[in-house]
Amino acid sequence: MAGLFANARFIVAALALALIVGVAAPAGAQQRNSDNSVNPTASAVKEDQLLNALKSGPGGGDSISGRVSIPDQKSGNLIQPAGQAWRAFHEGALHWLAAIAILGMLAVLVVFYLMRGMVKLENGRSGRSIVRFNAFERGVHWMTAGCFIVLAITGLNISFGKSLLLPLFGADAFAAWSQWGKYAHNYLSFPFTLGVVLMLLMWVANNIPNGVDIAWIKRGGGIVGNDHPPAYKFNAGQKVIYWIVVLGGGCVATTGYFLMFPFYGTDIAGMQLAQVIHATVAVLFIAAMIAHIYIGSIGMDGFSRSRPAAA
Ligand code: HEM
Repeated sequence: MAGLFANARFIVAALALALIVGVAAPAGAQQRNSDNSVNPTASAVKEDQLLNALKSGPGGGDSISGRVSIPDQKSGNLIQPAGQAWRAFHEGALHWLAAIAILGMLAVLVVFYLMRGMVKLENGRSGRSIVRFNAFERGVHWMTAGCFIVLAITGLNISFGKSLLLPLFGADAFAAWSQWGKYAHNYLSFPFTLGVVLMLLMWVANNIPNGVDIAWIKRGGGIVGNDHPPAYKFNAGQKVIYWIVVLGGGCVATTGYFLMFPFYGTDIAGMQLAQVIHATVAVLFIAAMIAHIYIGSIGMDGFSRSRPAAA
C-alpha cells in the first residue's frame, strides 16, 4: 500500500513537471517578437537568444535595447554590435598602423642618417646672427611642441599602455600613471589647440605654396644630394610640416573634443568614427613630427644657437 502511494506521488510529480515545461516553452518562445527580433525586456531573456540575435542581420545584427526608468534613455542600450568593428580597429588595425608608421619612420631615419650623415653648412658659420623668429613665435612653437610631446606619450599610453606598460609597472602603478596621463591629455589639449591656432595665424602668409617650391623640390631640397636651392622664409619641406601641424592639429583637436565631451556633439556612432580618425591621424602626426625633430636636430647642422665664429 505504501509502495502504491509512493508510485502515485511520483506520477503526480512527473505530470506537474511536464505541465510546467509545457507552459514555459511557449512563454520562452514569446520572448521573440513577431518580426523574430528578441524582446530584451521580457521577464527572462536567455543569453543565447541575445547572442543569436547579434549574429543575425547584416554587419552583425542590430543594437539590442531595453527600457530604463532613468531620464538618460541611452543607458537602455544593452549591446551595440558596431562596437565590435570599433574594437577590432582599436585592438588590431591601430596597433599595426602605429607600429608601421612610427617604428617605420624611425628605421628610415636611422638608415638615412647612416647613409647621408648630418647635412653640413657649406662654408661654416658667418659670425652674424639674424632674428628669424621673435620671442613670441618661439614661445608659441615650444608651448605647442611641449604639449604635443605629452599628448603623444599619454595618447599612446591609452592605445598601448595596457599591453606594453602594465606588465612592467604592475597594476597599481600603471593605474596611477594612466590616470595622470589622462588628466594631462585632457588639460594640455587646450594650450595645444591655442598653439595650433596661433601658428595658423602667424605663419599662414609665408606658407602658401608657390612656384619656388616646385623648383626646390625638383632640386632635392638640399637634403637629397648636395644642392642648396633657394626658398623664401619657409622652404617646401617646412611648408609641408606647417600644413601637417595645422591640418593634423585641427583634426585631432576637433575629434578629441568630441571624445572629451561625449554625446554633446554626436552620438555613439559618431564618437566611434571620431576615435578612429583621432587615433589614425595622431599616429601619422607623431611619425611626421619625428621626421621634423630629426631634421631640426641631428639631421642638419646649425640647429644650436648661432655662435659668432672664432676670430
Ligand atoms: C586638442 C587636442 C586633443 C584632444 C582634445 C584630445 C582628446 C583625446 C581624448 C578625449 C581621447 C580619448 C581618451 C580616452 O579614451 O579616455 C584621446 C585619445 C588619444 N589621443 Fe588625443 N587629444 C588631443 C590631441 C592629441 C594629440 C596631439 C595626439 C598625438 C599626437 C593624440 C593622441 C591620442 C591617442 C593616440 C589616443 C588614443 C586613441 C585610442 O587608442 O583610443 N591626441 N585624445
